[in-house]
Amino acid sequence: MKANMSSASTRCRSFFVFPILFAVVLLSLPIPSSADTRHVINFRSPGLYPEGLTWDPRDQHFLVGSLHSRTIHSVSDAGVIETLISDLDLPENATILGLAVDSTNRRLLACIHSLPPLPPFSALAAYDLRNGGRRVFLSPLPSLPGDDEDIARDVANDVAVDFKGNAYVTNSAKNFIWKVDRDGAASIFSRSPLFNSQPVAADADASFRDCGLNGIVYISKGYLLVVQSNTGKVFKVDEESGNARLVLLNGDLIAADGMARRQRDGTIMVVSQKKLWLLKSQDSWSEGVVYDEIDLDLEGFPTAVTVGERDRIYVLYGRVMEGIMGSYKEEGAREWFGIEEVWSEKEGGEDKIWLYVLIGFGFAYFCIWRFQMKKLITNMDKKIT
Ligand SMILES: *[C@@H]1O[C@H](CO)[C@@H](O)[C@H](O)[C@H]1NC(C)=O
Repeated sequence: MKANMSSASTRCRSFFVFPILFAVVLLSLPIPSSADTRHVINFRSPGLYPEGLTWDPRDQHFLVGSLHSRTIHSVSDAGVIETLISDLDLPENATILGLAVDSTNRRLLACIHSLPPLPPFSALAAYDLRNGGRRVFLSPLPSLPGDDEDIARDVANDVAVDFKGNAYVTNSAKNFIWKVDRDGAASIFSRSPLFNSQPVAADADASFRDCGLNGIVYISKGYLLVVQSNTGKVFKVDEESGNARLVLLNGDLIAADGMARRQRDGTIMVVSQKKLWLLKSQDSWSEGVVYDEIDLDLEGFPTAVTVGERDRIYVLYGRVMEGIMGSYKEEGAREWFGIEEVWSEKEGGEDKIWLYVLIGFGFAYFCIWRFQMKKLITNMDKKIT
């Protein structure tokens, strides 16, 4: 009888401890809500008009490039901006476009492009991030044989990097992809006929009608994804052969610009001046689904998207068009620019569902506990009486 009582009391104690533990776990979980304040970073740099944005996970800051001053800057979470690279070997007034951090080699890769009426220039630059931004190479990117750059110039628009340090650069004017190896050797990598097979969107205006392949990301399974502005299509490109396939999507990403990938779950973000699209795929991008579209501030002219600390999604409001239109030339240059977190309500919803499942599980456990307690008490009553 005595032995029975003591084992009952230890069982009793564990019955009490589990639900309490559960309650503690539930209470300590962050409850997502749309009232969360998005992280907005404003930074001051007169006349910068940045087009490219990336995040350096090691040094924990953003990197942005200048429209005309041949500089690349770091921007902290709090909006402190510092000049990281000032490369006067670049042609005067050249533009820094796409940026990517090569984490393997601790380098920053930057697309360099000269806008008309400057002489044509398209190159990829690499800077050593361990070394105060010393330049490793500046590789001019080859044109197609027979192309006259003075008639239609190449545009080195965006860049992605693989784990070996090879860079892949989109040519948005001529619809092909360059490859630049880690020593700076540049070649034309992919000229898939598919890149010229899709119809230009009917509502394409002058701002992107001639803009083809643009945002690009590298995926560790041996391929790249690249988006085409004027058709809104996404292509999957083999890293070895350069062969391309059209990704089947439930919509066209018209006027798409920069692209980024969230490591945690493989979500792809594509930005345009109007919105940010979130895409997922279950089959390594034979097919994909646009599962959220978030409206952006058109005035801010978003051009780039990146994933920052704690998997947060950020877009760059660089007001590039205003800079290109020339208001930067005189004292009237804009001084403030922004990097803003973008929040997907749909993702918030998913998180909540996950939370409800957990609460439901807790409740079920509680019911079982009550049932067993009742049985135990009945048993004890029987034994005592
Ligand atoms: C670069 O821009 C400045 C300021 O707009 C201008 O004065 C200068 O002539 C430009 N240089 C070239 C090579 O176009």
